[in-house]
Amino acid sequence: MTITFIGHGYVGLVTATVFADLGNKVWVVGHTAKKIEDLKKGITPFYEPGLTELVKKNIDAKRLLFTLDYDKSISESEIVFIAVGTPPYKTGDAQLSTVFDVSENIAKYLNGYTVVAVKSTVPPGTCKKVYGIIEALKKSGVEFDVASCPEFLREGTAILDTLNPDRIVIGTESKKAEEKLIELHKAINENFVLTNLETSELIKYASNSFLATKISFANAIAKLSELLGADGLRVLEGIGIDRRIGKAFLSPGPGYGGSCFPKDVKALVAIAKDYDYSFSLLESVEKVNDQAKRDIVRKVRKAVGELRKKKIGVLGLSFKPDTDDMRDAPAIDIIELMKRDGALIKAYDPQAIENAKGLIKDIEFAKDLYDCAKDAEALVVVTDWNEFKDVDFKRLKSLMKNPIIIDGRNIYDPEKLRKLGFTYVGVGR
Ligand code: UGA
Repeated sequence: MTITFIGHGYVGLVTATVFADLGNKVWVVGHTAKKIEDLKKGITPFYEPGLTELVKKNIDAKRLLFTLDYDKSISESEIVFIAVGTPPYKTGDAQLSTVFDVSENIAKYLNGYTVVAVKSTVPPGTCKKVYGIIEALKKSGVEFDVASCPEFLREGTAILDTLNPDRIVIGTESKKAEEKLIELHKAINENFVLTNLETSELIKYASNSFLATKISFANAIAKLSELLGADGLRVLEGIGIDRRIGKAFLSPGPGYGGSCFPKDVKALVAIAKDYDYSFSLLESVEKVNDQAKRDIVRKVRKAVGELRKKKIGVLGLSFKPDTDDMRDAPAIDIIELMKRDGALIKAYDPQAIENAKGLIKDIEFAKDLYDCAKDAEALVVVTDWNEFKDVDFKRLKSLMKNPIIIDGRNIYDPEKLRKLGFTYVGVGR
């Protein structure tokens, strides 16, 4: 099948590449000449394990094509996916102008029956607006349908997630569009959730918000366990074994970050507000998440004392491992709070330093974990990169001014570290 993706962010580029690898001819349409020229050479705009190789393979096979031009791509495609960003306004509402702008462009070049499928995360009701825009601008006689087809891939495991989704959600009012989307997706998975537009649009927000709720619940239980002297990790393990609850997304830490959970929780609160419903549960989820970051800093203060002029090493900057994405990364707020106390920060991340430089000022960046630990009064683990797990603790201790580890992701064994002479502080333990 010939298909088009408008947008080459995580969702657009990864999904387009996977569909190309499955044998489809896939156009990816962007709007920045430099980015499209880079992509044509196989240079990807972000770090995602395995992606560059897969992009190159499919460019060579002539199945993956990058362009600035809507004309050829749209007119020869059976399905056009909209996969552009919907960043939040200050109010939390999703910005939809790019979705609507690209809908106008798509309308001009539609040629023969086409399904326009929205992959961007959009508030319920948006797909109907997309339909209205295209209907008003398309050439007469051209047939099309609109569908909602939300994406559930995670950064860091994006290719694997796209190839192994738990479900494929398709929302549309048209049987013909539904069949086209099933035909494309059935090579991946046949576990379809077939529904209408608004339901599909809401499934995406509800899914991310529920996962964020699990994380905040885990952080609240971890906090309470610390106060009660209970082992929070055992508590969460103990509840997670119950299949009705599930073990996933119950790891306490510095709170959720990234380009999705913070944005989508806020957006769902704003959507609810538009209908005079106060989604106070999600407002609390956000409060607990903010508190989780503050709690890490509180632990550093408690272990080190006054932070002024003290060197603090920060391990991990990206919002999660295996990505260079710094959007809404907990490290940003944690570092800012420590800087406010006068701490001198040296930070290390295996991939995200370049992106972090634009966001965090007046700190030093280390070349590796040991460089980060040198002369530090404490080390704070903010992101659970694998390379932080296997450490020469004796060497680490000899480099640090004070052997204090604030393990924001619970990656180390407290007993082992205490035996080696470290002061160890985890989350919930
Ligand atoms: C999330 C969802 O998991 C995807 O299903 C969805 O497609 C995506 O958002 C999106 O809407 O595009 P992602 O943001 O890539 O994916 O990363 P996650 O693995 O979900 O992690 C999000 C944040 O939660 C990270 O900061 C992570 O460290 C944190 N987290 C996750 C915890 O603090 N504890 C956990 O137990 C799990």
